Amino acid sequence: MSAIVNLPITDWQQFFSAEFQDQAIRALEQGDVLVFPNLSFEMSESEKQFLSPTIIGKSKNVSFDINTNTLQGSSVDESATVLLQQMMHRYAILSKGLMHHLFPKYQQDLIQSRTSYRPLEIAGRTTSWRKDDTRLHVDSFPATPVQDKRILRVFTNVNPVGKPRSWRVGEHFEKVAQRFLPNIAGPAWGVRGFLHSVGLTKSLRSAYDHYMLRMHDSMKADLEYQATVDHLAYDFPAGSTWIVFTDHVSHAAMAGQFMFEQTFYLPVTAMHDELQAPQRILERMTQKVLI
Ligand code: SIN
Ligand code: FE
Repeated sequence: MSAIVNLPITDWQQFFSAEFQDQAIRALEQGDVLVFPNLSFEMSESEKQFLSPTIIGKSKNVSFDINTNTLQGSSVDESATVLLQQMMHRYAILSKGLMHHLFPKYQQDLIQSRTSYRPLEIAGRTTSWRKDDTRLHVDSFPATPVQDKRILRVFTNVNPVGKPRSWRVGEHFEKVAQRFLPNIAGPAWGVRGFLHSVGLTKSLRSAYDHYMLRMHDSMKADLEYQATVDHLAYDFPAGSTWIVFTDHVSHAAMAGQFMFEQTFYLPVTAMHDELQAPQRILERMTQKVLI
């Protein structure tokens, strides 16, 4: 099972020794969760108005794209939109800086994607089984293929009344794959091109994406697996930050409210040890090149 590694980082702009960076990248790539119990994201007095589930419309979260400076999913009025956007932008910048300082090896290749702010309580939320993140899963998204990239995420619990973000961390990726891969058929001829041509995927779904999506679905659909598989329950305290490869580490979010999240994509070839990538693991197991 993945380990939870506590690191005493308190400053988003902190510099680290080469030895610290080396240990951090090894732990991250082998599927550990790096937790910084005292790395918080400060919200100003005026930003505290966003500590309410009513600031979003129908979506699950507010989403910000630093590359295009666009905000989606909020229902706040125009004057508050600017403030909300600035807050999201600040989190995007801080998390990018942390990544660069902690993992300089990734800096050239790291792609910054969406920043999200999640003001809804997770526990008791109703959703389809496929979208139900209270079930253990590895991340893979039907409309957003990663092709040959990793999904690396930074999370910060900003709950104002000290409520933790309660996760479960499941068994190691190899074990998950050993359990589910034998029942997953390869991609049917022509389907991936069709999905892209009609706009159901944003880019071409790779064979690796195909297997990951099926694994994500098979895990969530299997209630017996969910009820019996070995896992570790972990509470990320309010005011803490954590980093994890969510395509590798089986995880579920059981409870918690008010969190920031920044997604990065990393080409597999930019890893310190790419043999640890889920893509390489699945390639070894299927004896195929999954592109
Ligand atoms: C997830 O990535 O599955 C959800 C994480 C969270 O909302 O805490
Ligand atoms: Fe997830």
